[in-house]
Amino acid sequence: MLYFRLTPPPGPAWMPQRYTHDVLVIGSGAAGLSVAIQVADRARVAVICKGELGDGSTSWAQGGIAAVLDDEDTIDSHVADTLRAGAGLCHEDMVRFTVEHSRESIQWLVDLGVGFTKLLTPGSENEFHLTMEGGHSHRRIIHAADATGRAVSDTLIEQARRHASIELFERHIAVNLITTAGRCRGAYVLNKDSASVDLFSARFVVLATGGASKAYLYTTNLDTATGDGIAMAWRAGCRVANMEFNQFHPTCLYHPSAKSFLISEAVRGEGGVLLLPNGERFMPRFHPQAELAPRDIVARAIDHEMKRLGIDCVYLDISHKGEDFVRSHFPTIYSRCLELGLDMARAPLPVVPAAHYTCGGVMIDRAGQTDLPGLYAVGETSFTGLHGANRLASNSLLECFVFARAAAQHILAQGEKIAISAGLPDWDASQVTDSDEDVVISHNWDELRRFMWDYVGIVRTTKRLQRALSRAHLLKQEIAEYYSNYRITSDLVELRNLALVAELIIRSALGRHESRGLHYTLDHPGLAAEAGDSVLTPG
Ligand code: FAD
Ligand code: SIN
Repeated sequence: MLYFRLTPPPGPAWMPQRYTHDVLVIGSGAAGLSVAIQVADRARVAVICKGELGDGSTSWAQGGIAAVLDDEDTIDSHVADTLRAGAGLCHEDMVRFTVEHSRESIQWLVDLGVGFTKLLTPGSENEFHLTMEGGHSHRRIIHAADATGRAVSDTLIEQARRHASIELFERHIAVNLITTAGRCRGAYVLNKDSASVDLFSARFVVLATGGASKAYLYTTNLDTATGDGIAMAWRAGCRVANMEFNQFHPTCLYHPSAKSFLISEAVRGEGGVLLLPNGERFMPRFHPQAELAPRDIVARAIDHEMKRLGIDCVYLDISHKGEDFVRSHFPTIYSRCLELGLDMARAPLPVVPAAHYTCGGVMIDRAGQTDLPGLYAVGETSFTGLHGANRLASNSLLECFVFARAAAQHILAQGEKIAISAGLPDWDASQVTDSDEDVVISHNWDELRRFMWDYVGIVRTTKRLQRALSRAHLLKQEIAEYYSNYRITSDLVELRNLALVAELIIRSALGRHESRGLHYTLDHPGLAAEAGDSVLTPG
């Protein structure tokens, strides 16, 4: 049993609060809630998130979770597919570790009550339906229709709410980690309602803040994906790796009223084909696996065709499968598209690539530990070596569950030995005033996401990357000045993080003199003889 102190009753809302827990989890997605639930029987846990619970990518995951579940599938085959997609950069030991733990991760979710889709075939009603996605050589994606993330997230939230030792703090945004004597001791956290910056101290801190795809103008991600965990860990002295590998999902709906709506890869897995406006199917020209080639190849092919023909989008067609099939396999996508006036059972959907997933992140070991004692990172914010230069579809949620379990076990194994630090200083806001020109923040947000899209997108050049780097430096300077003079807001916290993460992405991209996986540059179109990670060290 870990020793824990009860959080004192809060003082007046506008006063900075002080909280103490055994474990502080920053993020309420698959990664964060999985850690929280698995330590909660023996530790008192705080989970904080920027909006409402389930405000990250997890709730929006569609396709499913890759796992070796079919008797005819093998661990070796899932490992081989992951390595192939990762283009020579996956850490094979981490890939094997993840895949070997896939079955138990799914069992954990089933035991918690996640309602994965079952087969309709008479006699097989207790077996799960497994779907197909790009880069997989086997049907191995377990899913809950086309809203897997919602099913997983709802179950995790329900479990977390039931646990007496988990305290949930919505509308709280972590600003900076607190480090003393070489160990992470907690975090300063902005309460978005009271505007106070509170002190959360803990024996262990877990970063589960998701990815950084909001660095790009067009993205499938929610507004929370601003790379906060990566930025906080970097400022606290942790290394990051492979930040140049930003995955662009090939098929985001192209529609003026649909912000960031994904059309799942499972649509292609179940027979959907990509077409040009004249009806020509083009993917067979680019790869033998056509629409089911790894994601980097499909996204680049679409980008190429759009630029070659000067068109705004391409089309994804699954209408040949008929209305019953489309409605039963993709109920969420079907009804959302119908609301927008698009009937995917009858006509192709307009689609474009959009920033989707951050393959790089905070470097961790097999137990989720970062370079800073007491600090863990799990999920999209971390770099485990699983994804290499390009993540295989549906390996992300799997990574969240496997490493959440590993981190939870590691935390519990050493809990009692770690003391909670007393006497940490409150946040110092004595030198700042309220800002009277918030336009600086909104302007810089737009500028950053635009130059990242234009200069650091699917196809790069050294000149464009250098342009982007000098803009990132200017923005960082301006934001730093703003940060030290004005009271912080959540927009400022996120912008500051995004500017730092953008710089890390560009520096990593400039350092890679080859084209591999998701990083494609016209100045170095070939593969380097040796594959290596881009590791950046602070300081
Ligand atoms: P998230 O679920 O993104 O959660 C991040 C949490 O951190 C949020 O609660 C946020 O509020 C919180 N947070 C962030 N910064 C702070 C801060 N400073 N202070 C406090 N809290 C903070 N992967 C698959 O494997 N299969 C799929 O089918 C699939 N489909 C996808 C579909 C879509 C549309 C998207 C966007 C992604 C999809 N992915 C899929 C990727 C996958 O969903 C994510 O990689 C995964 O859910 C990330 O989980 P996470 O727990 O790391 O982060
Ligand atoms: C999708 O459903 O296409 C998303 C799957 C993923 O990102 O792994």
